[in-house]
Amino acid sequence: MSFPYQIKSFEDYKASYKKSVDQPEVFWGEIADNFAWKKKWDKVLEWNFTEPKIEWFKGGKLNITENCLDRHLELSGDVPAIIWEANNPTEKSRTLTYKELHFKVMQFANVLKNNGVQKGDRVCIYMGMIPELAIATLACARIGAIHSIIFGGFSAQAIADRLDDAKAEFIITADGAFRGAKDIPLKSVVDDVLIGNHTVKKVIVYTRTRVPISMIKDRDIWWEDEVEKVEAQGNPFCPAESMDSEDPLFILYTSGSTGKPKGVVHSTAGYMIWANYTFVNVFQYRPGQVHFCTADIGWITGHSYIIYGPLSSGATSLMFEGVPTYPDAGRFWDIVDKFKVNILYTAPTAIRSLMAFGTDILKDKNLSSLEVLGTVGEPINEEAWHWYNKNIGKEKCPIVDTWWQTETGAAMISNMANVTPSKPTYATLPMPGVQLALRDEQGNIIEGNGVSGNLCITFPWPGMIRTTYGDHERCKQTYFSTYENNYFTGDGCLRDEEGMYRITGRVDDVLNVSGHRIGTAELENAINMHTGVIESAIVGYPHDLKGQGIYAYVILDGVHHESEELTRKDILQTITRIIGAIAKPDKIQFVSGLP
Ligand code: WT7
Repeated sequence: MSFPYQIKSFEDYKASYKKSVDQPEVFWGEIADNFAWKKKWDKVLEWNFTEPKIEWFKGGKLNITENCLDRHLELSGDVPAIIWEANNPTEKSRTLTYKELHFKVMQFANVLKNNGVQKGDRVCIYMGMIPELAIATLACARIGAIHSIIFGGFSAQAIADRLDDAKAEFIITADGAFRGAKDIPLKSVVDDVLIGNHTVKKVIVYTRTRVPISMIKDRDIWWEDEVEKVEAQGNPFCPAESMDSEDPLFILYTSGSTGKPKGVVHSTAGYMIWANYTFVNVFQYRPGQVHFCTADIGWITGHSYIIYGPLSSGATSLMFEGVPTYPDAGRFWDIVDKFKVNILYTAPTAIRSLMAFGTDILKDKNLSSLEVLGTVGEPINEEAWHWYNKNIGKEKCPIVDTWWQTETGAAMISNMANVTPSKPTYATLPMPGVQLALRDEQGNIIEGNGVSGNLCITFPWPGMIRTTYGDHERCKQTYFSTYENNYFTGDGCLRDEEGMYRITGRVDDVLNVSGHRIGTAELENAINMHTGVIESAIVGYPHDLKGQGIYAYVILDGVHHESEELTRKDILQTITRIIGAIAKPDKIQFVSGLP
């Protein structure tokens, strides 16, 4: 593939940015012309931020899987689309070429159809990081079903809440997942989810760990059996459903400042173009490069930079099942070496945790294939930035610091590798199409340089959130009501003397723990569900590895608590039940009044 919209110089960036502001419809219309459409759009953009109503490429018809798969077949059918590395380094890695992935996606799309999944249906996917997760995701998109991927670390209760909210009737899962030294019993968690549930019609189970699992007749079916049935039907083809530009592609739940997670809804055309445009420009992707994004597909980073961005570009996307420290802290570097990774995109929290193991482990690793490094998820501290630059990039790889959110779909503020200037700890400059404003508490726009304020976006971009599933008012309240006619990010931000942006962290009641969003209200609710707890308050505190740690103040009713230590552990169990282990506080302090 060639990318005529790939920005080549700082001058080019400035010109593109200007055009995106002066003539947004011309700008995005020209970019959209590079994709596969079943029917071109009638109008590039219609919008208002008051309802809000955002429509990009209205009237257009397309299918994102034709852009991610079919259109690459002729010239790049034998190029690896996905390279997969197992949790255990002794297990054989797998490669799926574009041809193979296309075939498997169509096959599994037919499995979905055979089981009654229709366009517009919501399908929950709860799997580990295996190629079948990408196959299931794309198969949903193939037939126009709306996928909602749930991170493997969430509890049964958290899944049940999301399932109910999305009114999903189908679940795709696996028997289990391998992650580091432990196995995650995925199906058994799903079984807990489904106790008393009468709305889920089918659970499709892929065999990964082959732990003994319960399989309920008529409801639970094996992935492999269903694939055999499709093979027996003898039709390997599955047409790509014709989708409207604004048809929802997926729902992804994220925590906010209020109690319950919200289902962020992304569109088909706008999201696709935004994921692709940012992938090609931020990383300056060149055909043939191997891209390794270490995120989990359960988060937006994995959606946009393991699946949709790379595949829509015909790139080779490396997918890793395990964790950075298993079997030892050299695992990422072994993978880079083994697959000659060119672009490595990870989180500051991973860099900091690997830093702690020292540089000895790097001695026998060949990292010379690396050309571009990236970070995402939280502000990166100076020390981690310099360590990454020196020890991993050997001072010859630009580091792109990409600021964005689940709601923004893909990168919003970032330097572009070797094209625009970088500055340690700064996300630097907005992508073309991203119009920023800093505002004070009163809503005044803060002009000039050398200032800071609350980060807002004043104009729509193609990949932006369209609604929160089932509750549009919530979308309006959360993002479009704090500042009139602006999207409010919830982040604080500094603009330095040169006009470069540095994100300073959340200004709302959301913590960023190891790059994951934890809503304080959601966590307080979970703690308050524990017997004997009267009230609780969550605050963040600076944490060397996680960026922010979680500190819980808890008031107990004072009756029958044998030992404080045991009560602490009980509370952690309740949190693990209600949300998942990722939300466990680092410290719990019992107090008689809240600070
Ligand atoms: C929040 C969004 C974007 C995918 C991963 C997280 C923080 C994200 C950066 C960065 C400083 C960052 C912000 C943002 N954040 N990237 N490069 N520098 N902060 O997605 O869970 O939706 O969280 O992560 O606070 O609002 P998310």
